[in-house]
Amino acid sequence: MNARKKSRYHDVYARAMSDPEGFWAEAATEIDWIKPADKVFDASQGVYGRWFAGAVVNTCYNALDRHVANGRADQVALIHDSPLTGSIAKFTYRQMLDEVKTLAAIMQEFGVTKGDRVIIYMPLVPEAVIGMLACARIGAVHSVVFGGFAAKELATRIDDAEPKLILSASCGIEPGRIVKYKPLLDEAIDLSKTKPSACIVLQRPQEICALTPGRDHDWAELRGKAVAAGKAADCVPVAATDPLYILYTSGTTGIPKGVVRDNGGHLVALKWSMFNLYGVKPGEVWWCGSDIGWVVGHSYIVYGPLIHGATSIMYEGKPVGTPDAGAYWRVIAQHGAVALFTAPTAFRAIKKEDPDGKLLAQYDLSKFRTLFLAGERADPPTVEWAEQQLKVPVIDHWWQTETGWCIAGNPVGLGQLPVKHGSPTVPMPGYQVDVVDEAARPVAANTMGSIVIKLPMPPACLPTLWNNDARFKDAYLTEFPGYYKTSDAGFKDEDGYVFVMGRTDDIINVAGHRLSTGGMEEVLASHPDVAECAVLGIKDELKGEVPCGFLVLKAGVTRSQGDIEREVVALVREKIGPVAAFKLAITVGRLPKTRSGKILRGTMKKIADGDSWSMPATIDDPAILDEIGGALKERGVG
Ligand code: COA
Ligand code: AMP
Repeated sequence: MNARKKSRYHDVYARAMSDPEGFWAEAATEIDWIKPADKVFDASQGVYGRWFAGAVVNTCYNALDRHVANGRADQVALIHDSPLTGSIAKFTYRQMLDEVKTLAAIMQEFGVTKGDRVIIYMPLVPEAVIGMLACARIGAVHSVVFGGFAAKELATRIDDAEPKLILSASCGIEPGRIVKYKPLLDEAIDLSKTKPSACIVLQRPQEICALTPGRDHDWAELRGKAVAAGKAADCVPVAATDPLYILYTSGTTGIPKGVVRDNGGHLVALKWSMFNLYGVKPGEVWWCGSDIGWVVGHSYIVYGPLIHGATSIMYEGKPVGTPDAGAYWRVIAQHGAVALFTAPTAFRAIKKEDPDGKLLAQYDLSKFRTLFLAGERADPPTVEWAEQQLKVPVIDHWWQTETGWCIAGNPVGLGQLPVKHGSPTVPMPGYQVDVVDEAARPVAANTMGSIVIKLPMPPACLPTLWNNDARFKDAYLTEFPGYYKTSDAGFKDEDGYVFVMGRTDDIINVAGHRLSTGGMEEVLASHPDVAECAVLGIKDELKGEVPCGFLVLKAGVTRSQGDIEREVVALVREKIGPVAAFKLAITVGRLPKTRSGKILRGTMKKIADGDSWSMPATIDDPAILDEIGGALKERGVG
């Protein structure tokens, strides 16, 4: 336990909890404010209080302008490494700033002003980052939609965010397939009630799409004209409490939740995390292997590293197959990354293809110091394998779209604490993490319960849901009064280490992607031959979990079960998107239920996962569980 003695964590955490305003005011000195806060935390504002009330700031200024002014103009800000297109592009801070100023000016000409929403539906290309920062520059609120979602999901987000403008691209690229974005964009706009006044479309050479006259504009053409005319937008001052972005995430229904991130708290917390948590210094190369469609990509491909003055790698590729399981080592070595942040699923994929780590020997990883994992539970065998191969600390950390940064982690910059496999370690400053029973009473160490965070949440955590304080309160703050409900279950051990074991709602985690089984059930139920259905997440060696759908067909349906199963699989892909990875639909005669009619999803999951299970006392007809077990066995599951 030597590491524990040397770590400053315990002192820093204690200070943050005993004097939160003093702690965060000090952290805020790392940010350039136009006007400092009147109150570091104003408990009277918002749903549970607001951080940095009265302050005026600009996030883009802090991510770009100040670094250009302070000696980092020629340092590389962003490296775009794309094995899928065979290209590597680098942008210095000065070049990034010039591009952002130009696009921001173009957006202003389309009438985008402070508070207007802009949807970004783009693949992992530098222009997507430029788009996000251009919004931040002019006070517009971006909402990035992941490229693996289908048109209907995009339409739902368009209707909720009501964007004035959409930034998009002709295509994304997946191994062996071009994902045409334009038909999805057109369909989404057709489906939505709100129509954006314009779309700016980046034509990628892999797919040139037709532009809709009067609505669509060619990105490069607009850029060329704006550069020739010397157009550039200045930073627009915004309140620290104004929204920077909305990011939609799966809720318990098919309607996603619009998580709001504000400007001030986000700047302060992300800047604090880059060194204190991740141990990265300004000027160093950092790689976050996620997608800008997810919160991890927002915080640690774009904002965190740039606010910090680091160099950020954006990787358009996969851990395996682009071209092989050595791809991650190649990127780390080629660009001199000091740390990588990715999801455990990526390492499971690499381990499967190259279990002995043979490809590792080809690369010089001498600069590489730490591997960070998050997005799903880091299973101990994968962590151990990564430790053995890389011979650097492998740090699991836990967070959610809602929090925007880590809730529990191992703060490398403050001094690493001992790693316990299966635990993301300890709460970060500002988070009082409790494990409670149904009556919101803290439970004893090593006892499972609901994991909750005492209000107020620290800076960067969501102040509310977009235009929906009521849903925010209802979904997060009502069940455990005085707390934010994480919807994760787990326990704390005698050393205060947090163990996150799984969700308490119907959210599943597929390859680090958060998905709602309730949303999938809505799609299955819409099939004309389906009377009833249930979707569960079942164990998967590679992706952690994958969805499995059970169908009960309407009486009198004579069509082949196989055809119907194939149709519902296609329907989920069409309505939610390929990212749902919904490939297994099984027809059964009936679903197991309690006497009050509740489907016994928990027991079905245990059967599918091959875990031990006991007959629920409230079951209506025990024979149905044998039928479910039999149906799963026929498909090779359980
Ligand atoms: N646009 C369009 N389609 C996409 C997409 C995108 N941006 N991203 C994924 N998809 C598609 C995939 O092509 C795949 O389609 P398929 O069913 O036709 O094969 C489907 O969505 C499922 O994708 P995914 O779950 O990513 O599976 P995969 O088999 O392509 O790859 C891994 C598996 C483990 C290699 C991959 O998930 C991975 O690289 N994970 C790394 C970590 C990560 O991204 N974490 C996210 C949060 S931190
Ligand atoms: P997302 O909002 O997409 O980032 O997903 C958040 C959810 O992913 C959390 O509520 C957890 O269920 C899960 N999760 C993320 N990181 C971890 C982790 N390190 N350990 C266990 N679960 C995690």
